[in-house]
Amino acid sequence: MNNGNGNQIETEKGVAPHMSVMLDEVLDALEPAMAGLIVDGTFGAGGYSKALLDAGAQVIGVDQDKNVQQFADALNVEFGDRFSFVMGRFSELDELSKQVSDQKIDAVVLDIGVSSMQLDEGERGFSFMRDGPLDMRMGARGESAADLVNNANERLLSDIIFAFGEEKRARRIAKAIIDARVEAPITTTLALADIIEQAVGRKPGGNHPATRTFQAIRIAVNREMDELVRGLFAAERALGENGTLVVVTFHSLEDRIVKRFFDAKKSAGTTSRHMPFEAAEPMRWRKISKPKKAAENELMRNPRARSATLRSAQRTGHAPREFSYDGLGVPGAKLNIDKILGAV
Ligand SMILES: C[S@@+](CC[C@H](N)C(=O)[O-])C[C@H]1O[C@@H](n2cnc3c(N)ncnc32)[C@H](O)[C@@H]1O
Repeated sequence: MNNGNGNQIETEKGVAPHMSVMLDEVLDALEPAMAGLIVDGTFGAGGYSKALLDAGAQVIGVDQDKNVQQFADALNVEFGDRFSFVMGRFSELDELSKQVSDQKIDAVVLDIGVSSMQLDEGERGFSFMRDGPLDMRMGARGESAADLVNNANERLLSDIIFAFGEEKRARRIAKAIIDARVEAPITTTLALADIIEQAVGRKPGGNHPATRTFQAIRIAVNREMDELVRGLFAAERALGENGTLVVVTFHSLEDRIVKRFFDAKKSAGTTSRHMPFEAAEPMRWRKISKPKKAAENELMRNPRARSATLRSAQRTGHAPREFSYDGLGVPGAKLNIDKILGAV
């Protein structure tokens, strides 16, 4: 059993300051692939990868954050060529994996979102609790949160905050941002947090009023919804029959996408005589268990695990689908952020 720390990686700079979420459940779901090759598409501090290597699997780690390289190097020293690391985005995990191995992939695991290391380093600009430049990029490319906050028009800002943060006061916050940036560009996390607090106030004992807006801006800057959908399709292409996909998400918007992706099936034919006949889509995934939540003993050690949901499924023998947002309920799908901010 995992004790919550036993899987952490030691480097010259110390132990990885990150506790893997739902590790026992992830290992259970990946059990059928343990004798084969597993792609860890969100390597982070390497907690899942190390536990999988300890259990005998071969692992390819993928991450877009160059700061995780030290953890990948430590695993290379410990496990030699059973472990490879590729820098990149998991939306391309099928192609990235081919760069390091032509072996069949038996499973893919994705632990979606921001790592506690990214949140804890003020200079990365993810946290409204720590002062730092308003950056929020997980990878090195693309526009920063400051670019978004200082250049997007009021309508787009409001739509982003509403769609990705589910923030009811999105319009008020967007207007306050526009008013403030007329005076001076907004360049730091605490400056933005302060503008939001001034605009909507703060309830004693409640969450910080900037929580939802910071989440929304981070999701937009890193195109997290688009990456998730593309990552699921990349896993569908990468895995053959009986290959396992395990996905851990941290909020309902993402979990809904994963659920619908696994369930997706067009109904068999259409009964309307005004519509052309549509053949039923074969199922690409077979669910192996119900969605899981973190156990009580994990929540005591790591309250962040409370919002995690794990879903897993195995590939059927049907050919992969073409990429599409249809039927997945992707929030903000119509915002076309790339067109406004430029592609990442
Ligand atoms: C929650 S952490 C993963 C922690 C890891 N499971 C562990 O046990 O240490 C998520 C990681 O995924 C990375 N990430 C997020 N979106 C990504 C994407 N689209 N492509 C590649 N890496 C991504 C982040 O940079 C971060 O390091």
